[in-house]
Parts: sequence; structure tokens; C-alpha cells
Amino acid sequence: MIYQNISNMKYRILLASLVLLTACAEKSQNDLIEQKVDDMLSQMTLEEKVGQLHQISAWGDAASMHDEVAAGRIGSILNFVDPVEINKLQRVAVEESRLGIPLLIARDVIHGYNTILPIPLGQAASFDPELVEQGARMAAVEASADGIRWTFAPMIDISRDARWGRIAESCGEDPYLASVMGVAMVRGFQGDSLNDPTAIAACAKHYAGYGAAEGGRDYNAANIPERQLRNVYLPPFEAVAKAGAQTFMSSFNEIDGVPSTANPFLLNDVLRGEWGFDGFVVTDWNSAGELMAHGVCVDKPDLVEKSINSGVDMDMMTYGFIEELPQLVEEGKVKQSVLDEAVRRVLRVKYRLGLFDNPYVDESLSDKVSLTPENLALARKAAVESVILLKNEGDVLPLGANVKSVAVVGPMAHMKYDQLGTWAFDGVSDRTVTPLEAIREIPGITVNYEPAFDSTRDKSTAGIPTAISAARRSDVVIAIVGEEAILSGEAHSLADISLKGAQNELIRQLSATGKPLVLIVMAGRPLTIGEQIEQSDAVFYSFHPGTMGGAAIADLLWGVEAPSGRTPVTFPKMVGQIPIYYNHTNTGRPFQGNETLLDDIPLKAGQTSLGCTSFYLDAGVEPLYPFGYGLTYTTFEYGEPRLSANEFSVDDTLTVETNITNTGSREATEVAQLYVRDLVGSISRPVRELKAFKRVNIKPGETVTVEFRLPISELAFYGFDYTRKVEPGEFNLWVCHDSNSGTPVSFTVK
Ligand code: BGC
Repeated sequence: MIYQNISNMKYRILLASLVLLTACAEKSQNDLIEQKVDDMLSQMTLEEKVGQLHQISAWGDAASMHDEVAAGRIGSILNFVDPVEINKLQRVAVEESRLGIPLLIARDVIHGYNTILPIPLGQAASFDPELVEQGARMAAVEASADGIRWTFAPMIDISRDARWGRIAESCGEDPYLASVMGVAMVRGFQGDSLNDPTAIAACAKHYAGYGAAEGGRDYNAANIPERQLRNVYLPPFEAVAKAGAQTFMSSFNEIDGVPSTANPFLLNDVLRGEWGFDGFVVTDWNSAGELMAHGVCVDKPDLVEKSINSGVDMDMMTYGFIEELPQLVEEGKVKQSVLDEAVRRVLRVKYRLGLFDNPYVDESLSDKVSLTPENLALARKAAVESVILLKNEGDVLPLGANVKSVAVVGPMAHMKYDQLGTWAFDGVSDRTVTPLEAIREIPGITVNYEPAFDSTRDKSTAGIPTAISAARRSDVVIAIVGEEAILSGEAHSLADISLKGAQNELIRQLSATGKPLVLIVMAGRPLTIGEQIEQSDAVFYSFHPGTMGGAAIADLLWGVEAPSGRTPVTFPKMVGQIPIYYNHTNTGRPFQGNETLLDDIPLKAGQTSLGCTSFYLDAGVEPLYPFGYGLTYTTFEYGEPRLSANEFSVDDTLTVETNITNTGSREATEVAQLYVRDLVGSISRPVRELKAFKRVNIKPGETVTVEFRLPISELAFYGFDYTRKVEPGEFNLWVCHDSNSGTPVSFTVK
């Protein structure tokens, strides 16, 4: 016993020394970098400093950019992806420019690089941060092999509006889920050590409030009061800043009249002052230039002055900094210290990435690390986990040995490019495995393929009869519908988010054949497809699933894998319900559930006869699917949550255990979700907030106990006085299947 205590003690001392040593090593490494940065800065001319803050999009080969780079007039280049050309140009920067400062090569590596993963919204549906981290690591290895050392991701804009095309790039509506996924992506992109040649610097975007564009119309104004900004929109950004994201991007939008690229509150006070961020801020593409269109700047010098003085460090594509900054510094409109600090931040990141020691990429690497069997397997797993089973009436799925023939119909069944989704610049669509191809690989199945349309927007019904006859010849119909990639993503907002073209008519006629109908929806956003879901027996929502999406869908259809995806956003029934999200406040007159809807209202009903609650006469308040929802090939039963105590103080950590039983007949994964509600606060609090989740694999008949540990400090929020703290009082807590289920237990914070 004594011996054990001594050896425990020795172990602890050893561990403490190791932690200390690592911290010391990190500190001295940081000090060394700061010294090098200062040293470099002291040698730089005004023009060279300004050059470091200028980012351009590549305009040709290395030779065409030679002179500018040799003169030290470019700090970073985006959209340059050829390793041979990148090395050539880097050689100019390192060997021909006066101070030899390397270029930072950037690209939008958003959901994979050559191997494309599901769109970020799909990845968020996996509720699997480890897998998301592995995916980002894979993308970083592929991208860095082409010479890219900086990505404009993760995109962690909270999105409550499916009309907004960029919801596809986001991690959905929930601040906690987006934080966890954002941190996972940062870890994956940046790896264990920034100066590893496979590390690519992350960029948290779009800072901030971009997802709250009014009416879901891209680039539109956002009006977010400060408390809501801090409680809902900023938490993912704070989380990734603290996880070490090296760069931030100022967003296009304005909030309450102040465009982010000229917002010192966001960039200086919050990001640097409150969160201690020491990386650099880049504008979004010409977002400094757009300060004129916003009507807050008169001309180029004005917008440069405003943006750099507000905390922007690097100008993407305005050409404003390079043209105007020297003069502005000379006139004293931009202080030398402001310029120096911006340059310092950019140089710091370049040193941290090891670019000065190791500026070149191994030109033979790309072929060895891209689209490898391991990467394809990872993309397949990511796609499997991102698919949500929304409906499975009569257990149509998984398809069994009795199914000998399937009709594969619909425009998205074999769209090698569109299945990759938005931001697949470097995806190799030849390597895409479509559902049609994967289903054709299944032995013993006759496949009757009839796409019916040329695209998802095809309005012609001429192809429907052949699809119907394929359905009639088959045991099961698999209809793969949705949106092409171009219908979501940047600047691709929609006012109507139902299926386009004649797809609804196809589904209606397929349903009328009486054949079992499995609907698969590949899209960049939740679509309003309630009627089509009713007409189908089973429904998979796969978002745009990436390179291996087809293989993943076949695995799920035939039950090689069990679905485990969960809705990362609330699915609306009708577009008019938007914005619709689970973590809303209660209102003074919440919906009661027994309200009279449109069709049941008696003639000449009296003004107040319907009850005065907050709902739509034609849609109630219920969504099509709540946040966190998803089925699988078995069923789970939750026991009552057991709390470690009923009363806690702010410094405590609450522990809660719940039994979950697999009551069906096959092994599957449940995503257990922990929600809380702060019943009374200094401001009205959400009816539920996700605070934790866990994926648990459970065998048939098995009961597992899931344990969550929740530090009470995580119940803090910005209240009436704009400070963040935990407010004492009573809370409800659920451990449940989705944001709309479960029975709460309560606890008190003293
Ligand atoms: C987008 C950013 C992107 C940038 C560079 C902009 O239009 O808003 O998300 O990173 O272009 O491609």
C-alpha cells in the first residue's frame, strides 16, 4: 500500500514535470517566434509591411506574378493549387524578395479537398466530432500536399434559416453543436503541431452574424441585439479562438448598421480583448471594398482607414491596403503601431506554420496522399453517419433478401458532380461513387434505372412514364431527388424551399404505383417536403454526401450499416415558419397544443374564440422534424435521468446517468442528448438548450448507462446586465432522443 502511494506520487510528480516542461517548451518556442517577428519587423520598409497585408487571388502561373512577389508586394495568395507553380513562386518570395518572407497559400478547403466529405451541415448531422476531426485532418493532408497551408474554414455561422444557401456550409442552428464541430475541424486542420508540413491554418468564418441574414437572402443585413449575439452567435467563435484557430474572417454583413469589416467592437474588443486571440483577421472577398456599397465609406482610402483601424489585418482582393495604406500611414490616419501590429500578426502565423524553415512542398506527395483507400473509407464512414433516417414505415428498410429488383429513379441518382455539394473546387468528380453505381455493385439485384429528368430543376414530365414503368417492374422503388449543388451555397438563397422542377409530380406518381417507395433526398438545406414524405414509405436525408455518398447510401439501404444521423437544424413544414429553431424563448403566450387550425375554424368565429397564443393558423408551431431527430433500424427506450444531487453550487460539476435500452432486434447507435432549461432568469431563457451529447452503440436487448458530467459553470449566459454568469434558480434537465422528447428532472443552483 505504502509502496503504491509512493509510486503514485512519483507518477504524479513525473506527470506534473512533463506538463511543466511542455508548457515551458511552448513558452520558449512562442518567445522565440515573437523575437523573430520583431526582428523581421524592424528590417521592413513601409511598402514591405503593407505587402504582407495584401492577399490576391492567383491570376495565372508563377511567372505572371513574379514581379509583384519579388518586390514583396504580396503576402498571401488564394486559389493557387499547383504544387509545382506554388514552389516556383515561393522560391521567388524566399530567394528573390529582399527579406525572403514566404507566401501563405490559401484555399477554401471546406469539406474535403480531393476526397470530398459530406457538406458541413451533413457532417454536423453525424454528431460525431472525432470523425469530423479525422475528416478535417484528411483534408489538410491532401491540401498541404498541393502546397496549401491555410483554409477558410470552419464556417460556424449559426443558421436558423433554410432559405439561406450557405446553411449548407454551416454546422446548423445550435451554438453548442456548432462549437463542438468547429473545434473538431480546427483540430483536424491544424493537427498536433502547426509547424508540421501537413498542418493548415484554420479560419473561423464569417465573423459575425452572417447566418442571420434577413429573409435568408445572402449578404443581407442582420439585426442581432448584443445579448443574443453573445448568447447564440458568438459562442462557436469563442470556442474556436480558444482552441487555437489562427485566423478569423470578417463577414460581409452588417449588424445593426455596422458592417463586420469595420466593426471594432467585434474585431478588437471581443475577439482580441475578451478572448485573447493573437492570430490575424482577413476580410472576406472584397468585404473592405464593399464598405462603400454599404454606404459607410466614401472612397478607397476611407474604407482602408476604417477597416484596419477596426481590427482587420489582411485585405482579401480589394487591392485597397496595397494602394492606400502607405499614404494613410504617412498622413497619420493609420498609426504606425496599428500597421505594425497587423504585420506582426501575419508574420506570427507564418512563423508558427514553419514556413520560414520549410517553405516548399514535396511535389511528388499529392499522388501518394490523395484519394487513398483510407481517405475513401473515411469519406464513406462520414457519409454513412451524416445520413438521417426520417421515416421507416412498416420497416421497409433495411432491404432484405426478398428484394430482387429495384427501380432507381430521380435526378440525383447518378450526378457525380452535384452529389459533392457546394465548395468542391478540388473534388475529383470522376471518383464520385453515385447511388446508382453502388447499387449496381450489389450482387443478385436487377437495377431498373430511369432518372426521369435531366436535372432537379427539369420541369418536363416527359420522362415520368418510363420511370413509372421501371417502378412497376421492380420490387422496391428508390427515388433519389433533391437539389443540384448549385442550388445551395454562397449567393444561392431560395424563397421557396420545396423540391424544384417536376420532382413532386414524380414522387406522387411513384407513390400511386403502390410499390414500396424509399425516398432519398440529397440537398444543401432542409427542404419543405412534408407531403412527399407522407407519400413515401421510408426517407433518408443525406444532404450532399460527397465522394463516397453512393456507397454509404447502399450500405444503409441494405443494412450493412444502421443509420445514426440526427437533424442538425429544425426542418420546417412550410417556408413561412422560418425562422424556426428549437432553442427559442417561450413568449408570454406559448402554443398550448389544442389550438384550432384553419380548416376547423367555425364560420363567424368570434375574435378571441381561438385562444390567444403564439402560433400560425395554417401551420401551428410544430416543425416537420425537430432538432436532434433521427431514426434507425432499432428502437431505444430511455430510463429516467438520475442526478448526482438536487442542488449545486456554481463551482460544482453535475453528473447525470440514464439507462438506454435497445428494445429492437439489431445493434445500432443512439445519439443521447442532454438539454437544460433555466426556468427563471434575469432575461427570458430558451425552452431548451443542448449542453452535451454522446454517440452510444447498443446491442439488441442491451441496456447501457450513459453518463454526462456538466460543469455548472456551463449554464452561464449573458443576462440583463450584459455580463456572463450562472444565475441561481431552478433548472430542468432532459437526457433524451431529440429536442422534442423526454421527461425532465429538475435541480437547483444555489
Ligand atoms: C466567401 C468566403 C470564402 C472567400 C474566398 C467569399 O466569397 O464568402 O467564405 O472563403 O470567398 O473564396
